[in-house]
Amino acid sequence: MPPSSFVVAIDGPTASGKGTLAKRLARHLGFAHLDSGLLYRAVGLALIRAGKDPGDQAAALAAAEGLDPAGLADPDLRQERTGQAASVVAAMPEVRAALLAFQRRFAAAPPGGAKGAVLDGRDIGTVVCPAAAAKIFLDAGVEKRAARREKELRQRGEIIIEGAVLRDLQERDARDRNRAVAPLVAAGDAYVLDTTDMDADQAFEAALAYVNSRSSGGPGGPAAET
Ligand code: DC
Repeated sequence: MPPSSFVVAIDGPTASGKGTLAKRLARHLGFAHLDSGLLYRAVGLALIRAGKDPGDQAAALAAAEGLDPAGLADPDLRQERTGQAASVVAAMPEVRAALLAFQRRFAAAPPGGAKGAVLDGRDIGTVVCPAAAAKIFLDAGVEKRAARREKELRQRGEIIIEGAVLRDLQERDARDRNRAVAPLVAAGDAYVLDTTDMDADQAFEAALAYVNSRSSGGPGGPAAET
């Protein structure tokens, strides 16, 4: 990775607020942002649209190999059923390997000539960018995450079935943490930020202070906007 690319890796479980934090940090630092979950979601969505079972390994691998980055803005990627399919294909080593090169290229040479990149996912600090300059593991209690996700869904006008969001998060947590390949785990050198009792602003301030502490004197450290 060229020394000019300053990489911030953000990992954590579903609905921990990684996406919001990553976007905000990237904007503040003038860095590019990649939500790596979208890659797995794109594979899951391709299978749903083709009428295939998300467990179909050959079809999942073909979808991962044929991934078109232009499709990453599709609003259907955000659907709950797409997230479920994504967590199934994400457990397949061949699919993960096929998506690895894309993520590493993004980190090493961020689009738009940005001086750095913020990548969020489950294995950015452990597998995709183990040499990232800054690694954050964002966590929060599952009940708190479920409450936040329910609020978000209500705001989007979706109907909530009592207990369903919590059950879904528990299922996804179990699949992400227990899979054999690249399981969700904090890197040994990650800054673990538990936001159970924090709001988004507090989480952002804590994360930014950590990133700045990692960049002082570093190669072309992040030029933070004011
Ligand atoms: O963050 P998300 O909900 O959009 O992720 C969708 C699924 O993809 C989730 O079950 C975990 C998986 N994923 C992964 O295994 N590795 C990543 N780097 C990002 C997401």
